[in-house]
Amino acid sequence: MQLPTGLSFSLIFVIVRVGCIDNGKDNGMNQENLHEVHARSAPVIEWYSRGSSILKTMEVTEKDPDADVPVEEKYENPHVPLEYGVHYKGLGKLSTPEECARNCRQGAWPKNCYYHFTVEIYRTLGGACTLCEPTTNTSLSADCQCILGDGVDMAGIMVINRMYPGPSVQLCVGDLAIIDVNNRAIGTSISIHWHGVYQKNYQYYDGVPFVTQCPITQGSTFRYRWRAQNAGTHFYHAHTGLHKPDGLEGAIIIRQPKIEDPNNEDFDDDHFDNVIFLNDWFHESAIDHWPGTTAHNVGQIPQNILVNGKGQWLDPSTGNYTNSRLAVINVQPRRRIRFRMINSLSWTCPIQFTIQNHNVTLIGTDGEEVKPKTVTTITSFSAERYDFVLHTNQPIGTYWIQVRLVHSCSSDKITQVAVLRYTGSEFEVPASRRPRYDPGLPLGIVFNDVNRICDDGDPNFVCAKDLRTADPIDERILAPRADLTFFLPYNFHLFTNEELFKPNTYTQFLVPIGGNGSVAMIGSISNIFSGSPYMSQIADIPPETICNRHSLPDRCSPRKPCFCSHIVDIPLGTVVEIIMTDSGENGLSHPFHLHGFGFHVMAQGRLKDVNITEDNKHYALSLHRKAYGDFRTEPPVKDTLAVTAGGYTIVRFIADNPGYWLHHCHFMSHLLVGMELVFHVGDDEDLPPIPEGFPKCGDFKPRA
Ligand SMILES: *[C@@H]1O[C@H](CO)[C@@H](O)[C@H](O)[C@H]1NC(C)=O
Ligand SMILES: *[C@@H]1O[C@H](CO)[C@@H](O)[C@H](O)[C@H]1NC(C)=O
Ligand SMILES: *[C@@H]1O[C@H](CO)[C@@H](O)[C@H](O)[C@H]1NC(C)=O
Ligand SMILES: *[C@@H]1O[C@H](CO)[C@@H](O)[C@H](O)[C@H]1NC(C)=O
Ligand SMILES: *[C@@H]1O[C@H](CO)[C@@H](O)[C@H](O)[C@H]1NC(C)=O
Repeated sequence: MQLPTGLSFSLIFVIVRVGCIDNGKDNGMNQENLHEVHARSAPVIEWYSRGSSILKTMEVTEKDPDADVPVEEKYENPHVPLEYGVHYKGLGKLSTPEECARNCRQGAWPKNCYYHFTVEIYRTLGGACTLCEPTTNTSLSADCQCILGDGVDMAGIMVINRMYPGPSVQLCVGDLAIIDVNNRAIGTSISIHWHGVYQKNYQYYDGVPFVTQCPITQGSTFRYRWRAQNAGTHFYHAHTGLHKPDGLEGAIIIRQPKIEDPNNEDFDDDHFDNVIFLNDWFHESAIDHWPGTTAHNVGQIPQNILVNGKGQWLDPSTGNYTNSRLAVINVQPRRRIRFRMINSLSWTCPIQFTIQNHNVTLIGTDGEEVKPKTVTTITSFSAERYDFVLHTNQPIGTYWIQVRLVHSCSSDKITQVAVLRYTGSEFEVPASRRPRYDPGLPLGIVFNDVNRICDDGDPNFVCAKDLRTADPIDERILAPRADLTFFLPYNFHLFTNEELFKPNTYTQFLVPIGGNGSVAMIGSISNIFSGSPYMSQIADIPPETICNRHSLPDRCSPRKPCFCSHIVDIPLGTVVEIIMTDSGENGLSHPFHLHGFGFHVMAQGRLKDVNITEDNKHYALSLHRKAYGDFRTEPPVKDTLAVTAGGYTIVRFIADNPGYWLHHCHFMSHLLVGMELVFHVGDDEDLPPIPEGFPKCGDFKPRA
């Protein structure tokens, strides 16, 4: 719907009203994107690409369809969801998840998309499953309270709205997401992180406990609110304890008008059902594996994988599969269909994804577009997302989709299947034998193979670093030198039992299979958090508990793990280079995730003769160039990347998003023993004001 000429009066009305909302009570709206609004000019939607450093803009040419609807001031009961269609003061008119999951059009008026999440401790199977079965694959809202999982009856999961995965959040660039999270999980505090959403101007809603907020206590509701600024395939998950593997996770898809997508000519369909959500699954609560036991139930390798929350389990004691459902993905023949694959695994296993008799063409990763690259098998790590185009050019039929846990988890031979079914196929399941772990579906061209550097010219392997961005690049990224370079060597420290269990000491630890308790470190620092968030209560955190490499507390020596709150300051606007180096010996490839930014992947490598360090940087980099050539000139942008085991990864980003941003290994068990730090970008004056009434937390130590 175009704005008819001669309606300038209502256009002015629109503008004034947007201005009213912006100046309303809610902080974070003050520096709002939509406020690029001047009298007599149309509002403009801004959004970010390329690691948030470059802005795209789009004019809103349509009239606000609700311009004449009266604004209601309603009494709010935090336990009762807001009403759809009602025009709330300071929030605008609320649209349903179904209204928001739409084709995005240039010039359209953005929506206020409202979601209500009720978080509970729950179970699979049981009474709810005598009533109904969840039918849809990527559900926007709950229609059935039955959770099937892999057909094994289990307790102690944590879910949102009695769904697994949680309801998917699907909206258009420019929309405002308003998500009420009501915690009804007994004895537990939670927070939800919107992974991949840059949260520029919405820093207080990044969902990291003790960094951006206090965890949401039992009985409370926290209203998250952020503008959909960067298009792409993202996801949300709990950032507290082990609540993510227990089930607090779901998809976020931010679409842009198709014409804005540099790969728009490579696909025909981008339907809201075409999401593939992968997770690893235990048959007991995750806490049974953390810190971990030594006698029975040892280690952190999960029992199964689910595809869109579905799957079967091969019971080794009977040799029979559970009779639960497999995920079925229906496709129209002879179409080029965009799929959005989300690796929401929590433990340390990389996963391979293969579709029988089909290749897939990668067009995006972690929400950023890349030039199309055709492969057969996608290997991914915890928190990576891959967008691919599936060309349904095979005979009408039904095909297997196989996922396998590989590398460090290959000994357990864990695999799952799903079904790709062409419309018109007479078969429910493929005629061919169900693939086993070994032999599985042929791998063909393998993308992102674990620890491979792809420097040998083998056409059967493509590495993530070799993808090419499909967007133009900010020249500053390609400059010979960055403004600031950080060396971040990460490692584990294994304790003797005498060290770890010394009376009156309480050192955090993880028990890996066959090991003693260990902690993770970046440099010599193993991160711990205080009980108050940095962003809103930095004054409540004892300064002596905050540290970095240049300011180790006196009690710490550089050779032993130092437990403190690891914060690294970065001036706003600097070009930052991070050199992650794996100084561990366990061969694992760790997926590091940066909040608040995407980073450009400049280089990855492993040198035989030297380990790259701050001191030998120039020499080591000259060896790097000899071995692998110069830095990438079209570096792909990602927000999560597996660092080559025993090697290094060099990434760059422009620190233009002020805030406190976590940078961490996305394996839950490593995150919980300190493999993280916080980049503090800019100063507190660069941040939006603390939202009025923002919850506080911390110590209570009265003097008398
Ligand atoms: C396994 O499946 C077979 C064939 O359906 C069945 O006869 C057998 O009873 C099952 N075994 C168990 C232990 O359930
Ligand atoms: C998702 O499930 C619904 C209902 O079962 C089905 O109609 C639809 O085709 C499915 N979508 C895909 C992409 O498989
Ligand atoms: C997949 O790609 C490989 C390499 O280009 C090619 O040999 C193979 O035939 C392709 N498979 C299909 C089903 O298109
Ligand atoms: C594990 O702890 C035992 C007992 O304290 C000690 O002898 C052993 O060296 C430790 N192992 C490692 C790898 O540190
Ligand atoms: C690099 O570091 C690893 C792990 O600490 C060590 O085993 C290896 O010997 C080092 N290589 C060189 C060339 O110093």
